[in-house]
Amino acid sequence: MSSAYDAIAEIYDPWSVSVTEDVSFYVAEAKRAGSPVVELAVGTGRIAVPTAAAGIRVIGVDSSPGMLDVCREQAELAGVADLLDLRLGDLADPPVEERVLLVTCPFRSYLHLLTDEERLRALVAARELLVPGGRLVFDVFAPAADDIEDTHGRWLEREPGIFERADWDEEARTLTLSVRGASGATTFTLGWLSPEEWRALLEQAGFQVLGCYGWFDKRPYAGGEDTVWIARRPN
Ligand SMILES: C[S@@+](CC[C@H](N)C(=O)[O-])C[C@H]1O[C@@H](n2cnc3c(N)ncnc32)[C@H](O)[C@@H]1O
Repeated sequence: MSSAYDAIAEIYDPWSVSVTEDVSFYVAEAKRAGSPVVELAVGTGRIAVPTAAAGIRVIGVDSSPGMLDVCREQAELAGVADLLDLRLGDLADPPVEERVLLVTCPFRSYLHLLTDEERLRALVAARELLVPGGRLVFDVFAPAADDIEDTHGRWLEREPGIFERADWDEEARTLTLSVRGASGATTFTLGWLSPEEWRALLEQAGFQVLGCYGWFDKRPYAGGEDTVWIARRPN
């Protein structure tokens, strides 16, 4: 298995260094659920390592061997490697036999799924990992018009030495994102949906939607770019 993220695994953490607003939210959800939790698209452990540092065991799944290698290094550095169980696999068919109280998919990772068929398959797969009453928690976004206007087709220095370019297709509702830094470059495509469409897919996948928030402080969704979802597998 290889992934567009392999080429930027070494620069992913410096690239996303300013993204910190979600960490305490996901760690609190994990502490509430207890061990083990499953994090889908675990990446370099930006959330999983602090979750393990809070004493919670994490089964982390990702399709990028390079991202998982960095995650392993970060877990060693933080002294929590024994609390992280990292597995190469896909959102659609995660290699997890365990059944848990919490499955998460942080930082917009479901946007890597580009069709409703793929999204539904991944949501059903996440539901299958949950015990009855367990929760799927994830966040996604849909861009605002000014965001598209400000960034479309321009290379921007997001962090020192790390450049990002967004090519938006408003009709197809896709974002082709290119990233380059000293040690690598990549391009991948993300697809967005409206909150109403995410809600419909969650319900179709057999979830009960408990919350759709507008941010990680659980403020009600009021039409912004971000949505944070809490969905429950019914008993
Ligand atoms: C934006 S990063 C998020 C990483 C991490 N959750 C975080 O919060 O920093 C998206 C991650 O999704 C992974 N990914 C993309 N498509 C995937 C798929 N189909 N199955 C599993 N992982 C996938 C990528 O390899 C990458 O690590």
